[in-house]
Amino acid sequence: MNASNETSASGPNESPTVPIHLRPARAADVPALVPLLLRLKRLNEEFDPLLKVRDDAERQANEVLRAQLSDPKAVILAAEGVGPDKDKVVGFVRALVRERPFYTPEWEGVIVDIYLLPLYRRHGVGEYLLREISSALKAKGAGVVTAEFPAQNEIASRFYAKRGFRAIQSLHARSL
Ligand SMILES: CC(C)(COP(=O)(O)OP(=O)(O)OC[C@H]1O[C@@H](n2cnc3c(N)ncnc32)[C@H](O)[C@@H]1OP(=O)(O)O)[C@@H](O)C(=O)NCCC(=O)NCCS
Repeated sequence: MNASNETSASGPNESPTVPIHLRPARAADVPALVPLLLRLKRLNEEFDPLLKVRDDAERQANEVLRAQLSDPKAVILAAEGVGPDKDKVVGFVRALVRERPFYTPEWEGVIVDIYLLPLYRRHGVGEYLLREISSALKAKGAGVVTAEFPAQNEIASRFYAKRGFRAIQSLHARSL
């Protein structure tokens, strides 16, 4: 995929209602989720050469998703389209609950992936995904919600900043 495929586009429907159906992902969704997860990782690769996608990323995506779907510390929500896209997974959000041994609140819910196909963007769907995953993480005991995304990914930076997220840790890298 190239950057032009990832350009955000307005869909024909400007309705303020959220044009998706959100539900917990299940094992049967893995074949539909893998290409979406890979699109996200390849988008991140376009932003930063230190995020080069591995040759075996597809197999890894299958394994990670399958393992996390049965992990009580993980939450994966699948967004199904409506109308002609009914029953098609058009986006997803994945998060993990992890302990903060030295800080309080002791448990954080970290959003590691959030992705929508371009036609579904900029209609408030991302905000809805964020709200729903935050509730799910809170229900699993998280007292704070965080988001991990590449520093160079401006879509993510703006999206989260608009929702009140601010940087609390930085991860800096250099090649060896
Ligand atoms: C991040 C994402 C899920 C947000 O979903 P969304 O439905 O577009 O978000 P919302 O409609 O709720 O909010 C839109 C806001 O997100 C940000 N945003 C969305 N697309 C953007 C783009 N192409 N460039 C810059 N900011 C963008 C802006 O802050 C925008 O607000 P604005 O329209 O007032 O400028 C979606 O844009 C996406 O899938 N992006 C590609 C994948 C990605 O980068 N994921 C984050 C890294 S893990």
